[in-house]
This record gives sequence, C-alpha cells and structure tokens, in this order.
Amino acid sequence: MPQYFGQLHTNEQPWSTLGAVQTIQQDERHVLFKCGDPCLKISVLAPNLIRVRMTPSGEFLPRRSWAVAQADEEWAAVPFEVRETADAVEIKTQQLRVLVHRNPCRLECFDESGQPLAQDAETAMGWRSGAIAGWKRIETDEHFYGFGEPTGLLDQRSKVRTNWTTDALDYGILTDSMYQAIPFFIALRPGVGYGIFFNTTFWSQFDLGAKQPGIWQMETQGSELDYYIIYGPEPAKIIATYTQLTGRMPMPPRWSLGYQQCRWSYESQEVIRKLAHEFRQRRIPCDVIYLDIDYMNGYRIFTWSPKRFAHPKEFIQDLKQDGFKVVPISEPGVKYDPEADYQTFDEGIQNDYFIRKSNGQLFHGYVWPDKAVFPDFIRPEVRDWWGNWQKSLTDVGVAGFWNDMNEPALDDRPFGDPGNKISFPLDAEQGPAGEKTNHAETHNLYGLMMAQASYQGVEKSRPTERSFFLTRAGFAGIQRWSAVWTGDNQSLWEHLEMSIPMLCNLGLSGVAFVGADIGGFAGNATAELFARWMQLGMLYPLMRGHSALSTAQHEPWTFGDKVEKICREYIELRYQLLPYIYSLFWQAATTGAPILRPLLYHFPNDPKTFTLGDQVMLGSSLLAAPIYRPGIEHRVVYLPEGCWYDWWSGERFEGQTHILAHAPLERMPLYVRGGSIIPMASVTQYVDERPLDQLRLRMWMGTGEFTLYEDDGHSFEYKTGASCTTTYRISTEGERTIVDIGAREGQFSPAARETIMELVGVGEHRFVDDGTARQLTFST
Ligand code: GLC
Repeated sequence: MPQYFGQLHTNEQPWSTLGAVQTIQQDERHVLFKCGDPCLKISVLAPNLIRVRMTPSGEFLPRRSWAVAQADEEWAAVPFEVRETADAVEIKTQQLRVLVHRNPCRLECFDESGQPLAQDAETAMGWRSGAIAGWKRIETDEHFYGFGEPTGLLDQRSKVRTNWTTDALDYGILTDSMYQAIPFFIALRPGVGYGIFFNTTFWSQFDLGAKQPGIWQMETQGSELDYYIIYGPEPAKIIATYTQLTGRMPMPPRWSLGYQQCRWSYESQEVIRKLAHEFRQRRIPCDVIYLDIDYMNGYRIFTWSPKRFAHPKEFIQDLKQDGFKVVPISEPGVKYDPEADYQTFDEGIQNDYFIRKSNGQLFHGYVWPDKAVFPDFIRPEVRDWWGNWQKSLTDVGVAGFWNDMNEPALDDRPFGDPGNKISFPLDAEQGPAGEKTNHAETHNLYGLMMAQASYQGVEKSRPTERSFFLTRAGFAGIQRWSAVWTGDNQSLWEHLEMSIPMLCNLGLSGVAFVGADIGGFAGNATAELFARWMQLGMLYPLMRGHSALSTAQHEPWTFGDKVEKICREYIELRYQLLPYIYSLFWQAATTGAPILRPLLYHFPNDPKTFTLGDQVMLGSSLLAAPIYRPGIEHRVVYLPEGCWYDWWSGERFEGQTHILAHAPLERMPLYVRGGSIIPMASVTQYVDERPLDQLRLRMWMGTGEFTLYEDDGHSFEYKTGASCTTTYRISTEGERTIVDIGAREGQFSPAARETIMELVGVGEHRFVDDGTARQLTFST
C-alpha cells in the first residue's frame, strides 16, 4: 500500500460524541444548537435542502470557494417553522421535518408522509484526533448510488467508498479510491429518496454498512462535519438540487457528441492523416482524433515534437477541412528543465507557481518527462497562467483539451513502476494568500482545478467558440468544467459490463458527459468484444475508442469486415440520434439530469430496478440491454411498467415483464418506450457536415412528449437567447393517434428543413417546418 495512505489512516482512538443541547439560537436561515463547546448548525437553504454542520471546537470554518457553486446566502430565503418541545426541536419546511433531539443531540428527518430518512444512529456524530464522523441508519430496502465512478455493482450498499483521487491503474471490481472523488450519494427505497453531499475536500470515506450492518458512516480528516441532506424523493429532483449546489455543465460543442478516436499514440502527422483518410474512405463517421503524449517534444507540456509534428497548424487545418477536430493531451507535470530553454518551466519557477514542500524546497516527482514539478492550481494566479498557456494550443487550432494524470499521478523515481506511486506531501502548502492550506485539504481538488484552469483559459483565448474538455480526475462539481472518462479500463468483458454501472453512477453524481474507453484501454480486444463494446458505446454520452501503447490496434476496421460493418451501423445510428442526444445534453445543462441513466432513475418505485446494472436508458425513451459476455446470443431483459417496442422489429411488449431477447452479434437488444418521440437526423460523416435539412421524428404509439432543443451547436450565443425548443406531444386513443407540435419557442431559427413525422408501423406526414404549431392525426 502506498506510504501516504498510512499517514492518512492510523487513528483508532475512541470517538468523543455530542452531549446535551444547552442553548438554541435561531435566525432567518439557521438554527444553532450549543452543546458546551461543540455546536450543531442546521441551515435551511430550500424546502428540500438542509445543511448540517457540527464543530467540536465551537468555531465553524470559513467558507471555501472550491466546490460549492451556490453559497448559503445565495439561496433565496425559504420559510420554515421551529417548534420546541421538552425533548426535541422540530424544524419544518414545506417538504421536510427535521427533529433535533436534545439529549444527546442527534437528528432525524421525515418526509411529508412521516417516512424517516437520513436518521442519525444512536451514536450520531463524533470526533477524535484528526477525524470527524457521522452515523446514520440504513432503512430496510435502502440502496446507495453515486460516489463518482465506483467499480463493481450499481448499488453500493455494504461497500466502503473512499474519496481520495487516485491513479487507479489496473482497477477492478474491488478497487476503492478512483480517479474521481465525489463525496455525494443518493439513498433510495420505494417512495423515499435523498442525497447526501459530504462537504469536505479532505480524505473522506463512506461506509455503507460494511462495518456495522444497518448503519452508514461518513468520516473525514477535516475538522468539521459538514453535509447537505437533499430530499427528492425522485433521483431527478435530488440531482437537480445537487447540481444547483455544485454547478451544471455548459453546452458542449455539438461535434463532441460524434465518434472520437484515440490511441496511445497516433505518433505522427503522417499516421494521423492516414487514419483520417481511412475513416472517410470506409465511410465510418468520426469527428475527433486525439494526440496522446508523443506529440510533445520530450513530453514537455505546450510543445510539439519538431520531428513528428513539425507543422501542427497546417496539419490541424487540413484535418479540419476534412471534418476532424484535434484534441491533444495535457499533463500537469512540467518537465524539470533548468538547462534547456523551456519557457513553461522557466515562467513557473520565476513566479513561484510550483508546489513546494513544507521546508520550502521545490517538490518534484517523476512522470512522463522524467523529473517534473507541479503547478499549484489552487491559486487563481496559477490557474490564470496555465489558462493563458492554452493559447499555444488554440492558436494552432486545437478544438478540445484532454487533461490527464491530474489525480495527480506521479512516481518516486523511476517512473513507471506501479509500486512507486507517491503523492505530494500532505503538508505541502497550497492555495492563495487568503485561503492558504495544505495538500491534505487540496489533494482531491487538483484535477478539478486543472480542469477549471484550462476551461477558463480557453474561454478567454477563444471567446466565441465552444471547446471540448475531458479530464480523468475530478471532484464534486467537475461537470462545470469538463467531461470525464473512466480512465484506464481493460479489454475485458467484465470491464465492458462494469462500464454501465460506473457511467450510471457518474451520472447520478451530477456528471452527465461521461464515457469509458470503447474496446478497453489496456489489452487486446477480440473482434467479438469490440463489436459488443461499440454497440454499448453508441449510448455513452462521450463516445470514444482508445487503446494503450503496445496493444493491438483497435480501430473499427481492424477486426474484419463483419465487425467493421457492425461498427459502422452503430456509429451511424449514433449520428442519426444526435438531435435526440443533443436535447439530452441540454437537459443536463439546464437540470443536471444524467444522459445515460440506470432504470431506477425513471422507475424509482420499482424495486426490480434497484440493482439492475446491466441495462441502461439513454434519456427517457431508449432502453438497452447490451450483451457483455462472449458467445452469448440471448439474454433476459427486464421491461418496467408501460409499453415497450423492440427498436429493430417493432414488436410490442407490455411491462412489467421479463423477456428473452435474441441478440446475434449484429444486434444489441434495444427498446423504445411507448409514447416516445425521437428526433433523428440523416447520417453524416461528421457532425457539422451540413445543416440539418431533414428532421425525422420517429414516434411510437402511446402517450408522451419530447422537447427538441436546438442552437447553432458551436458558439456561446445560446447563453444570450439564441436557442429554440419545440415540444411534441403524442396521445393514442383506440385507433387514433394525435400528435401536437407546439410552436417553436426561442430566438434561434434552424435552417429551413423538411420534417417527417413517422408513427412507427403506421405511416408518416411530411411538411416544411416553419416553426408554427400544428396537429396531426394518424389512424390505424
Ligand atoms: C494514461 C491515460 C491514458 C493515456 C496514457 C498515456 O494512462 O489514462 O488514457 O493514453 O496515460 O498518455
């Protein structure tokens, strides 16, 4: 075990706990309970949002500016009632009742119908040297989701989840700390759902009943217990409030929803030109090609290899002509290079931007460029400086930014031996003058702040054009700055399977723009694995194929004609679905809703969905049941309440039911909910190939609605009103299906186009869409 975990976790002293409440103070937002020195503060921020803070010393810590986007005073004041009885104090909002017992001080919450949630255990809150914790009851039939990108199953009950950003190389089902540290989860049982955001950037941990069955624990090495209770009961409501607290994603450029091709490495301009040509010649749609570490000069960040990438600007321009965007990798480790004329290093040294040890010496570790030093992204001036360096990339036409190794990942000498991983010293000073602290408090923020630096820098140097950002590490709120991929997975069936719960849990953690490396990063995919992975990958919000150095090539055509055809078909389907998927991105940007969703998101009262980790929904209409084992051509599919249609054959099923799906290699079982309306485009070879001149809305009988979102797809004008929505409603009664098309709302006018309203299996109406409201009738 790496040495720094020892430092983090040695304490087994008994806990001190809260005694009796002695005094109570109240103002328009808070109720403060004093139990001698220790204090408990309850803040009412919204009818479904309560912040709980407990400090053993009686001093609450100053606000930190890092992860919580909406501070307490920025929430509109909401009315609440406080009622005192002999034993307890009751705080009541429109949706929640919080009961604080006087002796010993502990709290209980109830929903409107009196159902308990987030109830403190007998021992409620405690502290000991270097740690503080809270304990709550696990209710019967309660399940736990979120936690960033946990491995293993969808439901994390009885697991331990540590929040400490880690280069989780070779991760598997038992791995705990991952690249992302998101101290947030959703607890769900039929009719009751709540979220907990543990507001600490220090090492922290959730124990979901592993140590004590029936009790979950949160523990941090910070000095205050600070968490938010977010009542739902639906997951959608919980995530909407959680993302109001920690921020939402901006609209990404539309091209970033296309297929993205990566490899470590496409090592020269010539190799990439050939790759691009291959995609176009084989008519496999693709929008993005990545540059992994070898594009740099000796792995020096913000440089180009003079041999392999001699003319980056011309090269990127040429690719652009052909519809490809280029996304190079960035690393936080700056080569320690005092002898050479390396500007990034020189500037960082001159301005003292790199992290120092507590004794004042420059800290260094070993990464790709060998000896490296690390910017302190927690300081705004360092973020500005790093942000300005992004201009060296925007100047040559780079369209996206891939931030890697930002947990941060580094080794003690030599680089590359997994046993050699180290962290910055926990006592290394970090942060700006007014908010100075040490690495123990900022470790989890390193990736988040690097992502913020690159986002804000690029926004400055390219203020009119959206860019794409991808990061490996992050913390709560990472969705504001970047998409996330699940790091170095492996070319294994188990990893194909596990990508479903991992991505679903990321979505339930507020991070909607997510993907796993299609085909698996480490190892060699078989043709069958690759085909199955591409089918599922079609649904990933981030659809990227990637593979590691020294592995077999993983481009769609390297597995023979049959698999190439399957890849083409599923990538084409992705491009056809883009109007639907882009609207899901808009939902994520405006409400925080995940794009890829576990079934429990839409069916939170159906316990059959609570542990269902091998089926997934793309938006509210599409339900996929991927094949994730070799040689399998049939699988059981659970169709929840409602009516469902087989996407491929049109066969109709009445939920709730289990069916056996037939799935030869070219078929991923895919279903669409009755009453769905799915806007689709025709296939293009890249997203911006030509404006949408035909929009086909495929509809399935039943009752439902869908709001199509449109904007120019690439500028920031949507922020000042240049977007539009059209709401389509369908209802079937007996033999008549009526479709209402609402008037287009908003200031953006899409190019003139023909609209085809297709009631699947029945017929279609065509018209030139000028944005006016209309009604159509279909008879069967
Ligand atoms: C890390 C990244 C991987 C990348 C490799 C080389 O392992 O996770 O995606 O290809 O470094 O840069």
